[in-house]
Amino acid sequence: MKLIRLTVLAAAALAAPVTFAQGAKLKVGLMLPATGTFASLGTAIENGFKLYVQEQGGKLGGREVEFVKVDDESEPAKATDNVNKLIKRDNVDVIVGTVHSGVAMAMARVAKDTGTILIVPNAGAGAVTGPMCAPNIFRSSFSNWQTGYATGEAVAKRGHKKIATVTWKYAAGDEMVAGFKEAFEKAGGQVVKELNLPFPNVEFQALLTDVAATKPDGVFAFFAGGGAVKFVKDYAGAGLKKTIPLYGNGFLTDGTLDAQGTDAEGIFTALHYADGLNTPRDNTFRLAYAKAYKLQPDVYAVQGYDAAQMLAVGLNAVKGDVKKIDEFAKAVQAAKIDSPRGVFTISKSNNPVQDFYLRQVVGKENKSVGIASKALADPGRGCKL
Ligand code: PHB
Repeated sequence: MKLIRLTVLAAAALAAPVTFAQGAKLKVGLMLPATGTFASLGTAIENGFKLYVQEQGGKLGGREVEFVKVDDESEPAKATDNVNKLIKRDNVDVIVGTVHSGVAMAMARVAKDTGTILIVPNAGAGAVTGPMCAPNIFRSSFSNWQTGYATGEAVAKRGHKKIATVTWKYAAGDEMVAGFKEAFEKAGGQVVKELNLPFPNVEFQALLTDVAATKPDGVFAFFAGGGAVKFVKDYAGAGLKKTIPLYGNGFLTDGTLDAQGTDAEGIFTALHYADGLNTPRDNTFRLAYAKAYKLQPDVYAVQGYDAAQMLAVGLNAVKGDVKKIDEFAKAVQAAKIDSPRGVFTISKSNNPVQDFYLRQVVGKENKSVGIASKALADPGRGCKL
């Protein structure tokens, strides 16, 4: 009887469709910026992702991981070709990328068409977990709206009434300002001026002159990477820092403090990660990251690490079979991701639901000084998953 049962089970296992060769490696396509203003963000994401894979003995979902990389240059015009290269030429099993919202939207379009699993480890474009959402498209980071909204709430609580915004003119800047404005105006404030310049330009002088003439109570700015370094330095250099306080979602001062020096001192930001969280989970992560890379981690490193964690959750549920999209998605949506930022969950449109910290720059740290917004979920407008 026992023998018969075993035979039946073995036959069932053999009959189950396996859509990848047993023992085949899992090819992960990393599409990140290696050049340009976001290059350091790409490096941190890759480091974080690889750290988690190393901690799992080099395997996810029972399959040994191998990487194929492409430098997307944060260039939307090249994005479709780049992602097609990974899928069609390199035959990757999953894609992880990227930083820039415009590039991520092109990636999501291809992922949707081909059914390839995509995990976005930074870019916050609302469409990716909104109108373009799909069971195979996930994000380990934030929506642009979330970061703007949390900062808008925090700046309103500091008692300001009139704010000017400054950002790069593309999806990320537009959506962050919209989120900021929604929260800030709901709290009785007013956005009195919206200033911007094309991505990735860093000629800020004309905008700073405009800020000085407008005399708002404060400024909300989104810049990141090399652009954030220069903006914070130019803002202080123009003599504005003392008279018109500068705020941002935390990208303005994350991974940039060594280069910004004292020009960043005291700046308040809101973000889903901070220094000095001092939880066992974060301390362990930071120690491991510092040991592996001789660098301090930042928000981008955490997002890369968590992209690997989310991939592991999904792959474990489908035993490494990336074609079982519905089971993969169900497992990720049911999970509590044990992130260095704090535990977070994944919404029905596959975007993190998470706490946002209020942070202040003290020396070389974005020190956590409280919670800006608790369990904030993106409205996921238009997602019909
Ligand atoms: C984006 O383009 O979505 C983006 C880029 C850099 C950041 C945050 C968002 O730091």
